[in-house]
Order: sequence, then structure tokens, then C-alpha cells
Amino acid sequence: MTKHEKIEILILDDEKQFTEELHEFLQKSGFESFETNTYQDAKHILADHEIDLLILDVRLPGINGLDILKEVKIQYPNLEVVIISAHGDMDTVIKAMRLGAFDYLRKPFRHIDIQITIERTQKYLHLQRKLKRVQERNSLISKTLEEKIDRHFIGISPLIREVFDAALTAANYPDANVLITGESGTGKENIARIIHFSSLRKEHIFCAVNSSAITDSLLESEFFGHKKGSFTGAVVDKMGFFEVCNQGTLFLDEIADMPLNLQAKILRAAEEKVITRVGDTTPIHTDFRIISSTNHDIEKRVEENKFRLDLLHRLNTLHIHIPPLRQRPEDIRPLLVHFTESFAQKLNRPNLSIHKDVFKTLEKYAFPGNIRELKNMSERAIMLCKNNSLTVHDFPLKSHTISSPVPGTKLANLKNQEIDLIRKALVSTQFNQKAAADVLGITRDALIRKMKKYSLTIEKSGN
Ligand SMILES: Nc1ncnc2c1ncn2[C@@H]1O[C@H](COP(=O)(O)OP(=O)(O)OP(=O)(O)O)[C@@H](O)[C@H]1O
Ligand SMILES: [Mg+2]
Repeated sequence: MTKHEKIEILILDDEKQFTEELHEFLQKSGFESFETNTYQDAKHILADHEIDLLILDVRLPGINGLDILKEVKIQYPNLEVVIISAHGDMDTVIKAMRLGAFDYLRKPFRHIDIQITIERTQKYLHLQRKLKRVQERNSLISKTLEEKIDRHFIGISPLIREVFDAALTAANYPDANVLITGESGTGKENIARIIHFSSLRKEHIFCAVNSSAITDSLLESEFFGHKKGSFTGAVVDKMGFFEVCNQGTLFLDEIADMPLNLQAKILRAAEEKVITRVGDTTPIHTDFRIISSTNHDIEKRVEENKFRLDLLHRLNTLHIHIPPLRQRPEDIRPLLVHFTESFAQKLNRPNLSIHKDVFKTLEKYAFPGNIRELKNMSERAIMLCKNNSLTVHDFPLKSHTISSPVPGTKLANLKNQEIDLIRKALVSTQFNQKAAADVLGITRDALIRKMKKYSLTIEKSGN
């Protein structure tokens, strides 16, 4: 009901004199009012007008007023009904209230009584409408938020399906901290969101924090909050991330860069789930889960004493590693199809097709920027594309093909090539480890060691 706030009232009673008098009184009191003596007529009025309140006599000849009440409440769920009963009709009144009548008036009643009842109904309707507007707005907000969250998960390779399964496992343990590692653009934040929004914490906040983007002097107060006046600039009491994330998920992006002194404090908060705001002494309980991510070799940071081992242990209760895109070229095609479809829609370019050479070329490309690079590339290609077919020319690639080493990352490439060779051998031998080891010219044990080292736990699909 979003119409004007003046309410419309229908009076249904078989006593003509009564309805006429009441109608006159209501009109004089500034209400929009209708009156009738038969249900037949009432139905027409209800159908033609947006009646807010029905004043209903439950003792109409030939028809049970309670049946009318039931019927109109079903047909017009927003309609409120005040029933008129006679002396000694308590049973009917109780039944009517159970059926959803808003109030009742006992005949004879004074005009002032009905006025009070109407005003109460009006207030109630007013609140109802307000609540509905708020709810509508909220659902709109959460819808746009959902859209913004963008948690598509595309990927068919055994390697990425394993990551997805691990994410679902992590979602089932909403109190376990999760560390997500992987090169830049592999989808770490995407996985973190999938974990959060598939877990029991999903109704609460997912707060992504990149501590390397916050100045050192503010870090502590951003995480722990502060009390007004605790330092220059602290003009009001403020909640920190730990408190904001109560019952939700705190996503710590790029943890390897976190200053050591903050690491100690975060460890304590993560262990005790109790924090105190800067400048305050009151302990505050807060229940959060930490998902952290890094694209650095965090163990190396530990060796260099730049990252606390105890904190690492606290954060990696579950560890998910996302392999780079070049190790799972099967995912390039579905990702490309997904991104081009979604950008074509956004950029209003219907009927675009992708030339088969595009897939072939991209599957050989090393994607140093991983999925993010592929995504940006797809958007650019659609903008560059002159006709309805995306061709190789719309995808200008840097020279990073898998067979030509990326400058400066020779070692990494050697490792990647070894991984590629192992995977190819496994695929070509239908995952028979002995046969694959023979193809590679190594022993089966050596193959298993290497598969472990590179987390290559690929299995034949369907196994
Ligand atoms: N499996 C996937 N399916 C579809 N889109 C994905 C997938 N993984 C990642 N993306 C998209 O790729 C982009 C990069 O992902 P994300 O930001 O999660 O990567 P990241 O590993 O956190 O990167 P960085 O290390 O640079 O922070 C995002 O736009 C994300 O939506
Ligand atoms: Mg990220």
C-alpha cells in the first residue's frame, strides 16, 4: 500500500440506518467512507476501491460473518477488519480475532469508540506501510550488494575443482581460520567470499582488509578500534575490524606485508577472541573467523623473521592453494566464455562469437596476471572488436607464451614446465602413475614425490 495516507473505510451491516449514520459521521470526520447492506455489494466495492479497513457486522442474515472475514483476508491480505458484535457474542469475537480481525466493537457503541478504533487501525496501517517500505529498500540494497559481490566460480580442471571442494569444506567449519595462497589474480578473494557466503556466517559481515593499504600509525586503531580522545584525531569512539566482524569473516588480504608489532597483537586477538579498544581497558568479546591470503612465499618470510611462525600456525588451520592459470589451461575456455558473455551484456554487444583460434592462442599463453588478466583482456577485446566475431587480433598478448620463459622468473618457469610435463604425462597415460613415470623417464616413487611437492593430486575424473 503506497497510496496516500488517508484511509478508506467500508461499512458492511444489514441495518440501513446504522450504516448511513456511521457513514455520515466518518465522512464528516475526514475519512473516505463507503457503506452497504449486502456482502454482494461489498465485494464490488472492495474490488473497485483500495479499502484499508472493513467494519463488518458478523451477524448478517443468511451468511456467516466469519466466512466473509476469512474470504476477504485471503483476497485482500492488507485489508484490516474490525468486527461488530452483539452482546453475548464473545465466542464469535474470539474466533474472529483468531482469524485475523484487527479489533471488535460491541453494539451499541458510541461514535467516539469507533473513532478511537479507526485511529488505532490507521496508526497500525501507517507503521505497516513504513515497515514494508524499509523491507523493500533493504531487499533492494542486499540485491545490489549480492550483484556487486560477484562470486562466480568458473573452472573445470581437476586442480580448480579441488580448490572449490576445499572451499566448501572450509565453509563447513566456520570457526577454522583459512589461509589462501596463490599468485596475483588467481582468485584468492573470490574463494574467500565463496567460503564466507557458503558458511553459517553468511548473514553477517565479510570485511576485506588490505593492511598494506593502511598507514602504520592507524593500523592498530583500525583493527582494534579506539576510545574517544585516546589520540589526536580520535574524536568519537570507534569500532575496529575485529568488532565489526563479530559473527562474520575478517578477510586479511596480503598478510605477508603486515608489520611485526601488529602481527603479535593480531595473534592475541585471534587466540583469545577478546580485544580492547585503543585507549580503553574494557575487554570486548568478538567472534570472528579469519581468512587470510598472500601471493608471497610466506614460509620464506618466516625464515627471514618477517612473519611470525606462531601467527602463521594460527592462520593456516586450513590451507588452500590456488594454482596459476597456466597450470590448468582447461579453465581458460570456460572462463573466456563467461567473461565475454558478461561483458558483452554489460557493454551492450549482443551476438558476439569467439573465433576458435582465440582459444588455441590463449591456451598457450602463460597469463602472468592469471584470471584477472584474462578478465581484463576479455573486456578490452569486446571494446576493440569491430564486428561480431572476436578474433586473435582483439587479444593483443605480451610475449608470455608458456614455451617462452617470462624474464626474471626462469626458476619459476622451470618448475612450471616440470609441472606441465608431469600433468601431460599423467593425462596421456590416463593417470596411470607407473606408465606416466616411464614416459617421464623417472621412477614411480620419484613421480609421487614430485606430485606431492607440487600438490598435484590429480585424479581421473569420476574416481
Ligand atoms: N574461478 C573464478 N571464476 C570466475 N571469476 C573468477 C574466478 N577466480 C577469480 N575470478 C575473478 O578474477 C578477478 C581476480 O580475482 P581475485 O581478486 O579474487 O584474485 P586475487 O587472487 O585476490 O588477486 P590479488 O592477489 O591480486 O589480490 C576477480 O574479478 C574475480 O571475480
Ligand atoms: Mg586479492
